[in-house]
Parts: sequence; C-alpha cells; structure tokens
Amino acid sequence: MALHNTSDGYGSLTKVLHWLVVALFAFQFAAANIMLRLDTDATAMGMSQAGYYNWHKSIGLVALVVAVLRLMARRRGQLPDWAPVLSERERAFIHRAEQVLYTAMFVMPVSGFLYVMAGGYGVNLFGVWEMPNSIGAWPALATAAKWTHIVSAYVLVLTLAGHVGLVLWHTLVLRDGLLRRMLPGRSGHV
Ligand code: HEM
Ligand code: HEM
Repeated sequence: MALHNTSDGYGSLTKVLHWLVVALFAFQFAAANIMLRLDTDATAMGMSQAGYYNWHKSIGLVALVVAVLRLMARRRGQLPDWAPVLSERERAFIHRAEQVLYTAMFVMPVSGFLYVMAGGYGVNLFGVWEMPNSIGAWPALATAAKWTHIVSAYVLVLTLAGHVGLVLWHTLVLRDGLLRRMLPGRSGHV
C-alpha cells in the first residue's frame, strides 16, 4: 500500500490520520459531555472536572496538529478516483461534507483555544506546561469564540451523521464495501 494517495485509493498516511482523528474527536465529545455535567467538586472515573477540562484542551490541541498533518498529506499525491458505486448526488454530498469536516478540524480547536485564552482560563498542557497567554483578557472575543465552538460542534455532529450514515448504508445495506477504501490494505475500486 502506498504512503500517499494515488488514483487507485487512499494511502496509508491518510488512513492512519483519518482513524486517529476519529479517536481524538470521540475522546473530545466524551470529555466535553462529562466536564459540562460534572459538579466542580465531583469526580467521574477518578478524575475531577478540572482534570477533564485539562485533557479536553490538551487533546484538542493535539488534534489541531494532526489536522495540519492530514491537510499536508492530502495535498501530497492526488485524490483517489471516485468509488464507482457512488451516484452523482452522493458525490456532491460527500464533497460538501468533506469540506465541512476539514473546516471543523481547524475551527473546533482554534475557537476552543481562543475562548480559553481570551476568557482568562488558560491552558496547562497535559498538566506540565502552562502555555503563555499572548491574547490576554478580551471578553467579546471569548464570547464569540465560545459560541463558535458550541455551534460548530452541532454542525460537526450533523455532518458526521451524514458522512458515517452514507458509508454504513453502502457497507451494511448495499454491501458494496465502501468502508474498505478507508481500511488497511488495498482498497481496489469498489
Ligand atoms: C478537535 C477539537 C475539539 C473538539 C471536537 C471539541 C468539542 C467540544 C464539544 C462538543 C464541546 C461541548 C459544546 C457544548 O456546550 O455543547 C466543547 C466544549 C468546550 N471546549 Fe472543546 N473541542 C475541541 C477542542 C478544544 C480546545 C483546543 C479547547 C481549549 C484549548 C477547548 C475548550 C473547550 C471548553 C472550555 C469547552 C466548554 C465550553 C462551555 O463552557 O460551554 N476545546 N468542546
Ligand atoms: C471525526 C470523525 C470523522 C472525520 C472528521 C472524517 C473525515 C473524513 C474525510 C475528510 C474524508 C475524505 C478523505 C480525506 O481527505 O481524508 C473521509 C473519508 C472516509 N471516511 Fe471519514 N471521517 C470521520 C469518521 C468516519 C467514520 C466513523 C467512518 C466509518 C464508518 C468513516 C469512513 C470513511 C470512509 C470509508 C471514507 C472514504 C470515502 C470515499 O472516498 O469513498 N469516517 N472521512
């Protein structure tokens, strides 16, 4: 399997980064839901609310680095040919959905970072490094960034439902193996 994408299919780098982002985003949604529901002095699975905030911020910044690597990997090589099993309308949908997903991979961490910095909360990266805050207290920016973060999270969930739904529809109902294009090994043309 090639490292970079070819007209025949996705390269191993794209595949590894795709599933790494899935794992990081799954963690982000889980941590966000726990930290927003937990009382300040309560714990869940042995971790305090502050602990969850810290992990959410730190993993979110790791996800930003992975998103940059992913965009660079996508720009190397070429995009694979469309899977022949996809209709014109599905291709148009996938194209739009991928644009939204790529945008979200940047908007989510950047808006989160701006919110906590402009809001004066800061980031203690993995509990070992207090990141310098060059933005300083800026309440209007903090509010705008917070709402961008929240609204984008909902847009992301809806788009992911469409993205995953389409892949599962093809894989489980039509049984044309679309998912194989993103799994290890040669995808072939499905
Ligand atoms: C891939 C990256 C990220 C994803 C997918 C993500 C996802 C989320 C989600 C789903 C929520 C809950 C939104 C709601 O209220 O319904 C949230 C909240 C939050 N996120 Fe993130 N996040 C990411 C990165 C970051 C980063 C990098 C930071 C800060 C450095 C951050 C800070 C926060 C904070 C402080 C909240 C609580 C907002 C509130 O008080 O309502 N996030 N995030
Ligand atoms: C955070 C979650 C996800 C994001 C951000 C995401 C994003 C993307 C993006 C941007 C692409 C286009 C290829 C690229 O340039 O990298 C893609 C392709 C693909 N994704 Fe996802 N994805 C997510 C979750 C999933 C899940 C859970 C599945 C499995 C059910 C899945 C299955 C696929 C498949 C099979 C393709 C190849 C589609 C094709 O080209 O025909 N994705 N994904």
